[in-house]
Amino acid sequence: MKAIVVTDEAAGRAGMTLAERPRPEPAIGDVLVEVHASGFTPTELEWPSTWADRLGRDRTPAIPGHEVAGVIGALGYGTTGLSVGQRVFGITDWYRDGTLAEYVAVEARDLAPLPGDIDFTVGASLPVSGLTAWQALFDHGRLQAGQSVLVHGAAGGVGSMAAQLAGEAGAYVIGTGRAADRQAVLGFGAREFVDLGNDALEDVGQVDLVLDVIGREIQRRSAALVRPGGTLVSVTGPPEVRPSGGLAIDFVVVPDPVRLGGIAQRVRDGRLRPLIGTVATLDDAPSALDPAERVRGKTIISVRP
Ligand SMILES: NC(=O)c1ccc[n+]([C@@H]2O[C@H](COP(=O)([O-])OP(=O)(O)OC[C@H]3O[C@@H](n4cnc5c(N)ncnc54)[C@H](OP(=O)(O)O)[C@@H]3O)[C@@H](O)[C@H]2O)c1
Repeated sequence: MKAIVVTDEAAGRAGMTLAERPRPEPAIGDVLVEVHASGFTPTELEWPSTWADRLGRDRTPAIPGHEVAGVIGALGYGTTGLSVGQRVFGITDWYRDGTLAEYVAVEARDLAPLPGDIDFTVGASLPVSGLTAWQALFDHGRLQAGQSVLVHGAAGGVGSMAAQLAGEAGAYVIGTGRAADRQAVLGFGAREFVDLGNDALEDVGQVDLVLDVIGREIQRRSAALVRPGGTLVSVTGPPEVRPSGGLAIDFVVVPDPVRLGGIAQRVRDGRLRPLIGTVATLDDAPSALDPAERVRGKTIISVRP
């Protein structure tokens, strides 16, 4: 099968190449998915799981991409609950070959049915961004109606989902980003926008929750804005600061097919708008995933256009 592979950690995204790889075999509890669309998170190539398996063994050439939308082609031994021919989407295991390929083997329990009226490109844009936003706001941040939340990078993949979900839940959303992101962020339902390059973040005042997707200095300054009893949730690694009187939580998104079904339903009824920037073929994936200029929104690789 055709796949995008990486072999050289130091090369970063410039090291992605199109290659011929063996089709994966679905193991016990797996399904084999015919990939229709694939999503890639730009920082994947910095994660140890891209380069070594759980025992620390080199697993290059590795196939990146951990969001999939496709059709089940085969079931592994003992796999239950899904059917050959079914449309599915979800997050795939960080430690196994991923979705920038014609086929991927995935544990069935990590996948949700993809409704027929959501196209594969949209399906592949939702799992990591949507579930990260959901888990940050509600599982870790315990966000309630009437509370305030500062969503950093609210024109980005995770932030745009978080701004919309938090607004729907009745929270007061303050979104941040670059100057050019103002209209996009307000369009995702934020009540206020902070241009991190020009505005004073401290003017926001106190908030119940911060969702940080940026880290470092922005994270440090944001921790000071958290009200006593509030929470700083980070997805960029262990927080360097803890709000006084509050919590600092870092987490890695986990597959959650039930929640993913809820996210798909919100897309169908218009409550949630996915953020897709570029759609490219597998052959064009190396250049599309390493663009020369900034692209707002996720890059989705359409594997079976
Ligand atoms: N722990 C987890 O489970 C998990 C899950 C998903 C993602 N993540 C991480 O979360 C981060 C965000 O992911 P994403 O998919 O949302 O990325 P993304 O689509 O690139 O969104 C990030 C947004 O923040 C903006 N931004 C970054 N630094 C900024 C700054 N200094 N000032 C103003 N705006 C800034 C970006 O603008 P520019 O494009 O102009 O830089 C972009 O709009 C990544 O580090 C990713 O690895 C973690």
